[in-house]
Amino acid sequence: MIVTFSGTGNSRYCGQFLADKLDDELLDCFHYIKHGIQAELISGKPWIFVAPTYAWQLPHVFMDFIRSSWLQGSRDVYFVMTCGSDIGGAAAYNEQLCQELQLNYKGTLKVAMPENYIALFDVPSEEKCEKMLTEAQQTLSEAVVYMSKNEALPQKKVSPLGKVCSSLVNKGFNQYYIKADKFYATAKCIGCGKCAELCVLNNISLKDGLPQWGKHCTHCMACICHCPVEAIEYGNVSRGKRRYRCPEYKK
Ligand SMILES: Cc1cc2nc3c(=O)[nH]c(=O)nc-3n(C[C@H](O)[C@H](O)[C@H](O)COP(=O)(O)O)c2cc1C
Repeated sequence: MIVTFSGTGNSRYCGQFLADKLDDELLDCFHYIKHGIQAELISGKPWIFVAPTYAWQLPHVFMDFIRSSWLQGSRDVYFVMTCGSDIGGAAAYNEQLCQELQLNYKGTLKVAMPENYIALFDVPSEEKCEKMLTEAQQTLSEAVVYMSKNEALPQKKVSPLGKVCSSLVNKGFNQYYIKADKFYATAKCIGCGKCAELCVLNNISLKDGLPQWGKHCTHCMACICHCPVEAIEYGNVSRGKRRYRCPEYKK
């Protein structure tokens, strides 16, 4: 079974691609996390967890979802991490998670996809995004050869900087940077509530028709990138920036 977590569709797209190629089923963990439901899942085929990279690791909210889920059937696990450029030393943390849960770690695949983190960076041009999607299909197809035979994925050597990014930087980033304080709705807001609906942590509520952000946020960028009238901003950083949604995937 392929289990995905996705803010702006890249990981969901990769999950769907793998599901089609491997003739496997795809499960989006959005509803489980949003509604606090413990997942009880059964798979005869290896588990493939597909999610974005947040500060050179899997999103902590997704790791917690895996920890809290009851996984029956296969004990083999692959991880697919979509990213704007690099996953650093994330693989070691995925392997650690498998050890903790007594699962067999079969490797981590890095898939470069368009950057969605508009609270920090710019989204690539449409042409670049299209090119990245084509290259991603190639990367995924190569991995399918290993996955279909239940073989371990070849792993790349991690640089010392990559290790620091996934450890110290990740820790500081989660502690100090991932906050919702800077999100706000501009006068363009039509009060449709899509942001609240798409917030996986139920961190957005509508007050007098306008979204208000609470204290639980994972910076998945779903609210700001899926707003139909682009009324959501993140401080001054997001102003004038193109919003990103995986073009192949409509939420
Ligand atoms: C909070 C946050 C942190 C991110 N950190 C990284 C990172 O460490 N390395 C990287 O290459 N991309 C990083 N990105 C980019 C995303 O991993 C990438 O665009 C991903 O494909 C988005 O997946 P999604 O559309 O499934 O949400 C980050 C994005 C967000 C929102």
